Amino acid sequence: MPEADLLIRGGTVVDAHGERRADVLVAGSEIVAVGEGIELPHGVRVLEAGGCLVAPGLVDLHSHLREPGDEVAETVETGSRAAALGGYTAVVAMPNTEPAIDNPSVARDVLELGRKALCEVAVAGAITIGRAGDSLAPLGELAALGIQIFTDDGAGVQDASLMRQALEYASDLGVVLAEHCQDDSLAAGGQMHEGAWSSRLGMVGQPALAEEAMLARDLALVRLTRSAMHFLHLSTAGSVDLVSAAKAEGLPVTAEVTPHHLALTDAAVASYDPVFKVNPPLRTERDVEALRNALASGVVDAVATDHAPHAPELKERPFDEAPPGMLGLETALAVTWKAVTGRMSFAALLGAFSWQPARVARLDRAAGGRQGGPVEVGAPANLVVWDQSAGWSVDPAKLASRSRNTPYGGWDLTGRVRHTVHEGEAVVIDAKAQR
Ligand code: DOR
Repeated sequence: MPEADLLIRGGTVVDAHGERRADVLVAGSEIVAVGEGIELPHGVRVLEAGGCLVAPGLVDLHSHLREPGDEVAETVETGSRAAALGGYTAVVAMPNTEPAIDNPSVARDVLELGRKALCEVAVAGAITIGRAGDSLAPLGELAALGIQIFTDDGAGVQDASLMRQALEYASDLGVVLAEHCQDDSLAAGGQMHEGAWSSRLGMVGQPALAEEAMLARDLALVRLTRSAMHFLHLSTAGSVDLVSAAKAEGLPVTAEVTPHHLALTDAAVASYDPVFKVNPPLRTERDVEALRNALASGVVDAVATDHAPHAPELKERPFDEAPPGMLGLETALAVTWKAVTGRMSFAALLGAFSWQPARVARLDRAAGGRQGGPVEVGAPANLVVWDQSAGWSVDPAKLASRSRNTPYGGWDLTGRVRHTVHEGEAVVIDAKAQR
C-alpha cells in the first residue's frame, strides 16, 4: 500500500452502493482503504468525521465563474473556493463569459485556470458563436479539448433548425447539449414570473410557457435526432410533466432544478429586492411543489446551483435594471435539504448532488472521469464530509464568493460541510478553506 496521507475517521460512508460505517484512508490522490477501525498509520493527518456522512464530492452542473471578463464578480479561484466550501469537488463552468467560451483559445485559458482551483473545473462550451444563436461554434475542436457539454446558457437557442444541426453534430461527437429553455418572443421584457404576483406588483412577467414551449420543441428535436440533451434549471410544473413523459417514452434526456426554484416563490419579489431576480424567474407554490416531487421521484436527475455572482453595484440597481442571478454554491445542499425534508432520503438527495450530475456531465468513472464515487479502494479521493446536525446561519459578508447576492442572508440552516477533499488534498477542514 502506498504511504498514506489522510484518514477520514469515524463517519458513515454514503454512495450509490448504500451506507456503511467506515474510515477512509487516502494516499496521494487515491482512496487506498475503506473499512471500520482502520489503524492510524504514522504521520497521517486525521479528519474527524464522527456523526458525519462521508460521500463522493458534489458535482455542480451549472456554475458561473465569470472568468474571463467579469473578475469583479467572481474568478475561477474564488468560485472554486465557494464550491469547495459547499462540498463540491467538481463544477461545470458556464460559457457566458466575456468573451464567450466558444473557441479553443478561451476554453484552454479557463481549463488552465481550473488546474490550480480548489475543485475540478470542467468547462461547458457555447453551442453558437458568441452565444448569439446565429452560427455553430466549432464543437469538434472544443470536444477535442475534452469538453463534453455545450450550452448557450443565459439564452436559449431560438432557431430550431440550428438546434437540430447542433444535436446532429453532438451525436456524432458523443457530447451532450444543455438547453436554457426560454423562448425569447414569449419571455421578452419579463422581469419575474407572469402570474398573480406580477399583476399585483405591476411588473411585466415571463409566462411559464416561455420555458415550456422551448422544452417541447427540444423534446421533438431529440425524438428526431436521438441525440442526448440536458435541460437546465427547469422551473415549472408543466416542464416537469413534459420531462416525465419524455423519459417514459425513452428519450435520452436529463434535467436539473436549482435550490432557489425548490426553496423560493415569486411572492419574494414583493420586496422589490433585486436579489430575488433570476432567470428563469421564481415561480408559484404549485410549481415549487411539482419540482420538489419531481426531484424526489427521480424525474429530475440533478440539483444544480446556477451560481450567478453579480457585483453589488449592479445587483443594487432598481429591480428592472439589475441583472438576473443569485449565488448558490455555499448554501446549495443545506437549502435544498430544508426544501425537500420529508419527501426523500438524504442519501437520495446526495445522488442528485453527486453521482447523478457526475454522469450527466460525463465526469463519472464509467466515462473516464474522477467524480461521483463510489467510495472504494482505487477510486479518486474526491470526497465531502457532511455534518448533518450542524446548525449555521448564512452571513452574506462571510461567503467566499467575490459577490454578495445570496437570497438566503440570515437564514438558519441545518447541515454543513465539515471537510472537502479534492484529489487527496483537504481543501476544506472544519468548514474553513485551506487556501
Ligand atoms: O439568473 C440567471 N443568471 N440565469 C441565467 O441563465 C444566467 C445567469 C447569469 O449568468 O447571471
